[in-house]
Amino acid sequence: MCYASAMTVQLTIPRPDDWHLHLRDGAMLKAVLPETARDFARAIIMPNLVPPVVTGDQAAAYRDRILAALPDDMTFEPLMTLYLTEDTDPADVAAAHASGLIKAVKLYPAGATTNSASGVSDFDKVRGVLETMADIGLPLCTHGEVTDSDIDIFDREAVFIDRVLDPIRKATPGLRVVMEHITTRNAADYVTSQDSDLGATITTHHLIINRNHLLVGGIKPHYYCLPVAKREEHRLALRAAATSGDKRFFLGTDSAPHTDPNKLSACGCAGCFTAPNTMPLLAHVFEEDSALDKLAGFASENGPAFYRLPVNSARLTLEKQDSPVIFPDQISTEEGLVTVFDPGFDVFWKVA
Ligand code: DOR
Ligand code: ZN
Repeated sequence: MCYASAMTVQLTIPRPDDWHLHLRDGAMLKAVLPETARDFARAIIMPNLVPPVVTGDQAAAYRDRILAALPDDMTFEPLMTLYLTEDTDPADVAAAHASGLIKAVKLYPAGATTNSASGVSDFDKVRGVLETMADIGLPLCTHGEVTDSDIDIFDREAVFIDRVLDPIRKATPGLRVVMEHITTRNAADYVTSQDSDLGATITTHHLIINRNHLLVGGIKPHYYCLPVAKREEHRLALRAAATSGDKRFFLGTDSAPHTDPNKLSACGCAGCFTAPNTMPLLAHVFEEDSALDKLAGFASENGPAFYRLPVNSARLTLEKQDSPVIFPDQISTEEGLVTVFDPGFDVFWKVA
């Protein structure tokens, strides 16, 4: 579908969804939730709280806290996930899915990223859960990085595909998998070489930054995320995938708020906070690649198709103006300031 007007100063698309989002809890949840609900109808909510959201009961309680934090004048549907541990009970997963509560289970290799200590080390121990998920058609979302200390951090995604993901998929026919926040040509090529049981989310920031942006001319902690941004050739492969129209690629921002003291530290946290400006940034990126007609697919249609949910009937209009749009540098939360992702270039698009 092409929704671009003749002069392409306005673009109307079905209201988008975010298929990978960190909302946190408590005061941080209250502050960041409106930033997503302003533009997005639904989001797949990551379960890496402390302690993690492991059981159906915990997911129901977290969903209720999210809905309680939503401002009265906003609508938003949190699509809940469970955090996979080696002790996860397949029956609990199946019940949470059957009741409509959860839309996916998230696999964190133990130690791969923020709050992943309860994740999986021995993949044989989750075989029963994965088989149940294949039977009931419940997608597995993967943080696709190995954690072996001898594997270079820039190679961890590619090695995960060969050593973990491909073997799991071969051992579990019918398992539907989303490779989350892919960062490499290897991952994009793996997706296109497979069938429609495999999809991938791509973040806004990985379409914009490569590892030079992170490291050249001084380290930029606000560009540090996991998986870490890779070489330019990989960013270009992600741009090609996102703008291709291939239905297996869809938006998952991985918007991951951390307070500035936690980012600007000798051991800074991983995460880019892109919720406030993602849609204008995507309009910029897709226009740059002459692919504005593919933005609706990437942000609004391909995700629902993979998750077997309807496309939103509400719409979102993006408008291009003559002068650069000024986005807030930071949002304030009761836990401290959170810096908004700065693309490093002028953006002329805004949500109308
Ligand atoms: O950059 C990241 N931040 N990557 C992740 O995988 C986790 C996330 C977070 O929770 O902060
Ligand atoms: Zn994430």
